Amino acid sequence: MKVLLIGSGGREHALAWKLAQSPELTTLYAAPGNPGIAEHATLVPVNTEDNDAVVSFCKDNAIDFVVVGPEAPLVAGVADRLRAEGFAVFGPSAAAAQLEGSKGFTKDICARYDIPTGAYQRFNNAPKAKAYIREQGAPIVVKADGLAAGKGVTVAMTVDEALAAVDDCFEGAFGAAGAEVVVEAYLDGEEASFFCLSDGKHALALATAQDHKRVGEGDTGPNTGGMGAYSPAPVMTPEMVERTMKEIIEPTMRGMAESGYPFSGVFFAGLMITRKGPELIEYNVRFGDPECQVLMMRLKSDLLPILYATATGTLDKVTAEWSDDPALTVVMASKGYPGSYDKNTPIKSIPEAGKGAKVFHAGTALKDGALVATGGRVLNVTATGKTVGEAQARAYVLLDKVEWGNGFCRRDIGWQAIKREKA
Ligand code: AMP
Ligand code: GLY
Repeated sequence: MKVLLIGSGGREHALAWKLAQSPELTTLYAAPGNPGIAEHATLVPVNTEDNDAVVSFCKDNAIDFVVVGPEAPLVAGVADRLRAEGFAVFGPSAAAAQLEGSKGFTKDICARYDIPTGAYQRFNNAPKAKAYIREQGAPIVVKADGLAAGKGVTVAMTVDEALAAVDDCFEGAFGAAGAEVVVEAYLDGEEASFFCLSDGKHALALATAQDHKRVGEGDTGPNTGGMGAYSPAPVMTPEMVERTMKEIIEPTMRGMAESGYPFSGVFFAGLMITRKGPELIEYNVRFGDPECQVLMMRLKSDLLPILYATATGTLDKVTAEWSDDPALTVVMASKGYPGSYDKNTPIKSIPEAGKGAKVFHAGTALKDGALVATGGRVLNVTATGKTVGEAQARAYVLLDKVEWGNGFCRRDIGWQAIKREKA
């Protein structure tokens, strides 16, 4: 099978690494890719923001299957265009990608199909949003409706903080994404991420993970795209997984199909495990980054037929086998991230990873033949172990051999799970 992978992050490096192991693969292309992905794929300079360019490339190269990594091309309708031309695609239509693109859309689906989530209201003006906040009291959560690069959410511990967040949204802090605001009840519990494939009619549960969104140790400081993750998430017991499937995933899949937007791709459900059980915080419509890296380390099955079955409505015909060993990934980021940081700083050396370990590339590039850091999140140092503690120890040993002066990382990835292991 000739496959085109769209994307250039650590998530796509993990997907490329796993796809390249498939006996069903003949050629893997990646657009635009990165130097890590280039170990497994031929990089092609296709403008992935231009759906016509993607379609032309697929026609010219007789591509059999397109795997879309990030959300932006999905929201921009690349999957619709490719399907209309007869290509098999892993990733939802633009209409179904609203599950990630619009928090209000998702909340309305939850309300209509009785999916457990925080009580909410949608607002298109500040005075009404503020009146609702004063009525509800704090803690309370204020969210810009649209895609705001993970920055549009304020978990307000006081009413004043919530009111200020409403002003930020309507005064344009998040651009068009803040033209509508969702105010929702604060959910108290432990967070977990749950990944599940859907072909529109069938669902296949994959695995669970926990990430570390804050930049600083002890989960402090500003939010980032994720500074590290591990899988599985201990809070997701088999009972919680079963309840999540029945109470959240299956009604969403049915609801999306009944609403005219059958969902084909991966549900990345952000959950809060509260006293009542799993409640939905949000959906993403692509694999998590860096959660995908730990999922791919644990997946024993061939990824390619599983993704292809998702795209072609035959998910009931495949299964996914997972290693019981936990996997953990530590993100190395450019100093200054998530604020401003220097670009093109030299990465002198990346160590050889042994079995059960891998350094995935995210924001790297080759400049005059030398490897440099071009992004905020740059490398994902990943390892497995018999426990999360062992996976963590192995990951940091590997990470300490990376020679990159401008990099930093958190030293406590996995702390919640390790605390449990020690208890
Ligand atoms: P989101 O961008 O929707 O993932 O939100 C970012 C983070 O805000 C989540 O990972 C949670 O930690 C937190 N959050 C979002 N919604 C809620 C909620 N209703 N209650 C408590 N925390 C929340
Ligand atoms: N790591 C969180 C995300 O991919 O959205």
